[in-house]
Formats: sequence, C-alpha cells, structure tokens
Amino acid sequence: MRILLLTHSFNSLTQRLFVQLTEQGHEVSVEFDINDTVTVDAVDRFLPDLVIAPFLKRAIPEAVWRHRVCFVVHPGVPGDRGPSALDWAILNEERRWGVTVLQATAEMDGGPVWASSDFATRDATKASLYRGEVTTAAVAAVTEAVERFAAGDYAPVAAEHIDSDGRPRPLCRQVDRQIDWAKDSTAAILKKIRSADGFPGLKATVAGRALYLYDAHEAATISGAPGTVVATSGPAIGIATRDGGIWVGHVRDRESPQPFKLPAFVALTDSNIGALPRVECDSQGGYREIITTIDGDVATIDFEFYNGAMGTAQCERLLAAFDAARSSGARVIVLAGGRDFWSNGMHLNLIEASDSPADASWQNINAIDDLAEAVISATDCLVVAALSGNAGAGGVFLARAADYVWAHEQLVLNPHYKDMGNLYGSEFWTYLLPRCCGDVRAGQIIEGRLPMGAREARELGLVDEVLAPDRLQFAAAARKRAQEIAARDDLDLLIAEKATRRDADEALRPLADYRAGELERMRLNFYGFDPSYHIARYDFVYKTPRSHTPLTIARHRRTDTHGHSPDVESDRPPASRPARQAS
Ligand code: COA
Repeated sequence: MRILLLTHSFNSLTQRLFVQLTEQGHEVSVEFDINDTVTVDAVDRFLPDLVIAPFLKRAIPEAVWRHRVCFVVHPGVPGDRGPSALDWAILNEERRWGVTVLQATAEMDGGPVWASSDFATRDATKASLYRGEVTTAAVAAVTEAVERFAAGDYAPVAAEHIDSDGRPRPLCRQVDRQIDWAKDSTAAILKKIRSADGFPGLKATVAGRALYLYDAHEAATISGAPGTVVATSGPAIGIATRDGGIWVGHVRDRESPQPFKLPAFVALTDSNIGALPRVECDSQGGYREIITTIDGDVATIDFEFYNGAMGTAQCERLLAAFDAARSSGARVIVLAGGRDFWSNGMHLNLIEASDSPADASWQNINAIDDLAEAVISATDCLVVAALSGNAGAGGVFLARAADYVWAHEQLVLNPHYKDMGNLYGSEFWTYLLPRCCGDVRAGQIIEGRLPMGAREARELGLVDEVLAPDRLQFAAAARKRAQEIAARDDLDLLIAEKATRRDADEALRPLADYRAGELERMRLNFYGFDPSYHIARYDFVYKTPRSHTPLTIARHRRTDTHGHSPDVESDRPPASRPARQAS
C-alpha cells in the first residue's frame, strides 16, 4: 500500500514506523504537518491508500479524513482522549497503559478503534516510556490495523464498546503537577518531574530562578531545607526534599540568554552553586551517568547520558572508565550505553551555549575521537557495543569502533551526519564504515540520510547480531552473549587475530591519518566560511519549526515522482537498497 505518514516531526516513533512499514513492503512517504494546505497538497500528490498520523499536535484537516481513511496513533488506552495521555498515566500511577490506533473523525481522538496494544509501565520519564514501551506497542497496533485495513472486511469498533478505563482528559498543566516542597515526598516529586520529562519540563523555583526541571533521580546522601539546592554532583544539582533529596541533571531557564535544556550545573553557574559541597559524579550516592560492572572476565560499562548527547567532559570520563575496565583485566568489555539512547554524538546544546561554538565543537569532536581511537586500538580485549538505545550521527560510528555491534529489533539508527548542516563527521567513519560495509555501501549510507532498522543494519554490516525482539529482553540477552564469548576456548586466539588485523590495517593506513583527514573537513565545518553547520545546530537546539519536509523522506515531493506512482526501485534513495555484499 501507499502510506503517507503525516506527523509534526520525524521523531523516534515516526522513524520506527517508517522503517517497519517499509520493511513490510509498503511504499511510505512522510509529510510534516505544517499547515492544512500543505497536507492537502501532499495527499493530492501521493494519493495514499492510507494516511497514518503517529505524532500530531493539531487535527487532520477534514478535506483529508473525509475522503480517505486516516489512522491516528494515540499513546493511550482505548477511550482515552486528550493531549496529555502519558503525563496523566504517570501521575495516576497506571500500572498498565496502551496505544490505540483510531480513525480520524470530526471528534478529536473520538473515532472508531482499528487496533490497540497495551504494556506494563515502569518508573521512568515520559520520554523514556514513549521511546520504549509506547513505540513497541505502536508498531504492534499499527501493524495490526494496517493488516485489517488491507483485508478490507474489518469494521473498526467504537471505543465505548471496548472494555477499558480510558476516558477524556484535559491538557496537563503546570498547576496539575506543581511541587509542594514542604509536603511532597521524594517519590512524589520524582513522579511529577518524570511526567513532564522531556517536554515541557516541570516548572519550579530553584535557587531563586524559575526553571524547568528534567533528568531527576533520587539522591540518598543529601539533606537540607526542602526545595533548596544543597550540593552538586558532576552536571547535576542536589535539591533537598522533606525526606531526602533529588539530583536534577538538566534544567531549562526560558528567561535566560540560553533558553534551552542544559546540564543544571552549567545553567546555574551564575547562582553561586560552585561553593556547595560536591558529591563525586558517578559515585554511589552521587549523580550517576557511568557505571561499570565487572562479572568474571566481562566488564559492562553503562553510560546513561541524557538524550544520548556526549559533551567533552562526558567523553573524557567514559574514556577513563574504558581504560579502567581494560586495566581490570577484563577480556570482554561491553559498552552498553543508555536505555533510551546509546549515543547521539556531540552535545549540541552545550556547544550552542558556549562562548565559542566553533572551539567547543572542535574540543568535543576530538574528545569523541580519543574515545573511538581507544576502542579501536584496544587489542588486549574484545569490545562490544550493545545497543539497547537508538544511536545517531557520530554515536553510530563510535559504536562501530567496537569489534561487535549488537542490537534488538526495535532499534533505530541514523548513521549519517549531513542533516546537521552538511557536517562531514569524524569518529573514524572513513575507516570503519568501508571496513564493515564496503566503499560503495558506505557512501550510500552516508548520503542516504535515512533512519535504519536493526534488520537492515544487520544486512549492511553495520550491526553484527540482532539478539532480541525488543529493549526489555535485550539487556539479559547481551549479558548472556558476552559471557559466552568470554568463555570461548579460542578467546585468546580471537584477541590475537584482532591485534594482527589492526596491525595490518595500521600498516596500510595509520589511524592518525584517517583522523587528520576527517578533522580537516570538520575544521572547515566549524571555522570555514560556510555557516551551514552553525545554522543547522542553532535550529536543532532552538527547535525551529521546519518549513518543509526533507526530500529524503517526502518521496511524493521528489521531482522524479511528480505525485504519480513512483517506481520504488529507481526512486528510493540508495542507502536502503544496496545489494548484499559478501563480507
Ligand atoms: N546533542 C544535544 N541534544 C541532543 C542531541 C545531541 N547530539 N541529539 C539529540 N538530542 C536531544 C534532542 O534535542 C531532543 O531533546 P528534547 O528532550 O528537548 O526533546 C532529544 O535529544 C531527543 O532527540 P530527538 O531528535 O527528538 O530524537 P529522535 O529519536 O527523534 O532523533 C536523532 C534522533 C539522532 C536523529 C536526532 O536527535 C539528531 O539528529 N540528533 C543530532 C545528531 C547529531 O547531529 N550529532 C552531532 C554530530 S556527531
């Protein structure tokens, strides 16, 4: 079928559906919901069999839903309605929640239900549930709904006829989750902050400033007058509660010259927090981003960097953790990343906030390169990148620096840099990508600028093994697999072969040469006369609304299609269809 994804942005859920529906053989195109005229035009050009709206902030125009079936993906159980489904689910401590695919009608979220899927919730941020459980459930529900639609004989069911606790609920406002520092327990405060994390954030007055709080965790070791900042730990501030305290890793001060999310310590540098007691970052009791666990010969390094963004200091700390794991004598080192994101490369918000974004970019890319170089050069152990969370840009190539890359079926990778103002990219991609995929495919992947599912990444050689159907089952599967490798009789031989391969590659072209070549191009991106990277980064960080849908995903707008039935093979960007090449 021809399926148009109509969406506010190409967010993680939309990317996942794009990948899934394409894999299922559908002809998928994407249009951003910019205004009604643009939407109607997109439908007229593409003539889709079905419109699916995975993430909308406005109603679908009547001119569209009157004439063709439009599915709305709602992150709530059948009967639930309103723009704050997940916020309320978290605040009301729903133990099970769901995703419903309903048909667009005049009544917002009120149309008949084509399919739904439910899941167990957990104590996590709204964004984490959305990227994990909601996305998995949405894929299942959309797949079922599309199959029912294709069969042609399914009659969608009114929500009232489905047994469910769903009901209409209003927009969740700041007053609905306001913290009462004197009365609220730590658990209640964490719940309120998580219900608004990643957007809009929970508004609270902290250190005399009106801030939006994110990335909150229990801080067992701090205490003081509830609501006051009493300590710091790495990028986080510690706020006392009536029964303990919380670490807040990120805040947004909408009134400041940098009104976007920043590490709390950076955002509050002017607020005299430097003199407060410091609890060591990553220590027990501190704000923990990097945790190393040793189990026999396997060292697992979890690095839960908020939004997968890796600033210079984070790269340096991760490199120190990697070196320490090697020194511990571990034979297999698993780089496990974070639950939601493995890595999204350089920390663009920190770069935007710095006095010299060009210098900060330069430092950041060099810090990531130092880490990638250490991983590639670790010839006394095997290194695994175990991707529980998605990865984008430099994060994908940093993962490929490992000897093995493991994934699960729900993973989405964005193995390209060019969307960020034609950024050339580094992280040794010019060495790593041709090595795993061949020269031709490497060029296609970089130019394609498309999200990629685990299955395709596996076929292309970007991923070595797909270990589990989803995130939930992946961690245990990766742990088991790492232990199996560590227990292999030929482990010494595997490590020795790796060292020999590295020596041979080094003799052919030294790593330093690849790095210098990439950084020469990056220097131009950062310091050259073309400001595209700086403009793209500004738009990304400030979330400037898009004025059009990129042609890489809006296939109906490409000049070779003219709105007629495009020939899938010839029209499709190359990254998705290179022939399988023997490795
Ligand atoms: N630096 C800072 N913040 C980043 C980031 C980065 N490199 N990558 C993602 N984020 C933030 C986003 O701003 C967003 O913030 P929010 O919590 O305020 O909404 C959040 O992480 C999630 O990102 P989003 O774009 O909504 O996720 P996605 O799953 O839809 O898309 C990517 C994933 C990787 C395609 C997209 O985030 C991206 O293009 N990131 C930039 C990658 C990059 O160019 N890195 C620099 C070169 S190495």
